Amino acid sequence: MENKVKNAGTARLEVAGRTVDLPVYSGTHGPNVIDIRKLYAETDHFTLDPGFTSTGSCESQITFIDGDEGILLHRGYPIEQLAEKSNYLELCYLLLNGELPSKTQFDTFSNEVRNHTLLHTQQDKFFEGFRRDSHPMAMLTGAVGGMAAFYPGAMGNEDPEERRISSIRLISKMPTIAARCMKYNLGQRFVDPQNKLSYSENFLNMCFSVTAEDYEINPILARAMDRFFMLHADHEQNASTSTVRLVASSGAHPFAAIAAGVASLWGPSHGGANEAALRQLREIGSLDKVPEFVKMAKDKSSGIRLMGFGHRVYKNYDPRAKVMQKTCYEVLDALDLHDHPLLKVAMELERIALQDEYFIEKKLYPNVDFYSGIILEAMGFPTKMFTVLFAVARTVGWIAQLSEMLEDPTQKIGRPRQIYTGAAMRDYAPITHR
Ligand code: SDX
Repeated sequence: MENKVKNAGTARLEVAGRTVDLPVYSGTHGPNVIDIRKLYAETDHFTLDPGFTSTGSCESQITFIDGDEGILLHRGYPIEQLAEKSNYLELCYLLLNGELPSKTQFDTFSNEVRNHTLLHTQQDKFFEGFRRDSHPMAMLTGAVGGMAAFYPGAMGNEDPEERRISSIRLISKMPTIAARCMKYNLGQRFVDPQNKLSYSENFLNMCFSVTAEDYEINPILARAMDRFFMLHADHEQNASTSTVRLVASSGAHPFAAIAAGVASLWGPSHGGANEAALRQLREIGSLDKVPEFVKMAKDKSSGIRLMGFGHRVYKNYDPRAKVMQKTCYEVLDALDLHDHPLLKVAMELERIALQDEYFIEKKLYPNVDFYSGIILEAMGFPTKMFTVLFAVARTVGWIAQLSEMLEDPTQKIGRPRQIYTGAAMRDYAPITHR
């Protein structure tokens, strides 16, 4: 990766009687940054920014979000255009390589992905160690980490070709592993990939087909699945992507880093919100309960938040949520579920929240997770599989960001500092003197 920041002057800081001029850089879009790399050396001060609300961790050329305008670009292309005109595998190529593929490049890439869908047979035995009712995110975290045992050579992150093959293996095998998590929960036989099917068709077939009968893939659902994958592919330095970067910065096995990303995504504040949002809609249950629920979500002492609402970066409507809402209508139409009860509750929740002073003042809008649960529920996925599907989609983003970090000439092992407020230095007291 070639660093492309441009000089944009300096920022002068006066602290503890010292004055330091810190370089300011500008990028293609978004706020300028103040480079504080030398701050400690020149002022004996750290910065403090819990949650990294004002702190950039890296230079990146993959994805850009404008939270105020509700803009999401992947390598410069707006998500709305990609969702309408592209497909998930083409987006994978774009995120990994920086440009949209030619027909030949796309065919080569698709065939490579298609030819790595099978798992080592020993990996199937891995699942047998889990209880049947294990949460699929627990199984996914274990299975992805376990992949490092099958590809020890991938540890050689220096070799770009090794990294490229690892990318292909992960993109290709995640749907197979995810579908196995679902089948294991259901107590059904694993279904192997069929390489004649498209990426999304293959995934639906591995999840829903059973040996007892033929499974006919609904093209509208396959397109909806593909669009779901596209909308979740990458999203700047979110919690799970930052986790992957931090783990990989030590030189750890890339599959172990991706497993750490899966673990981070699981949380209900992050990727786990789609499962939590659907459970919440089900808990509300009917339109008449919505006002009371919104009241509780505004009352901090209730400990309740409106899941699928709010975002660290978007202070406007999440552009992915708009596409997800449109896809939701398409799926419900295709399944003749127009009056899906949870959709009515979701739409009423959205209507009330968007008019309510609390949500307006705090700039809380529906995010990518608000409508996705309804789509997945309508497609027949068990609720606890929702975040697994998010992880399948986000794998390419994690890999692209991990590779970009390894190719960044300024890359170092991540090691944040702190402000210490614990006990002052003191001598050990023998137990007889305590
Ligand atoms: C994803 O980072 C990414 O890009 C993530 C993601 C991706 O693609 O990788 O976009 C995917 O994780 C989407 C977010 C999914 N999470 C949820 O839907 C869970 C519900 N939302 C939140 O908990 C919250 O909005 C976060 C975690 C998403 C963002 O939290 P922030 O930026 O740390 O903001 P905050 O918690 O400080 O909230 C700001 C204020 C607080 O009130 P005050 O302290 O100012 O009085 O807004 C309130 C919060 O109490 N608030 C909510 C709320 N979200 C924030 N109140 C009610 N319901 C909510 N959903």
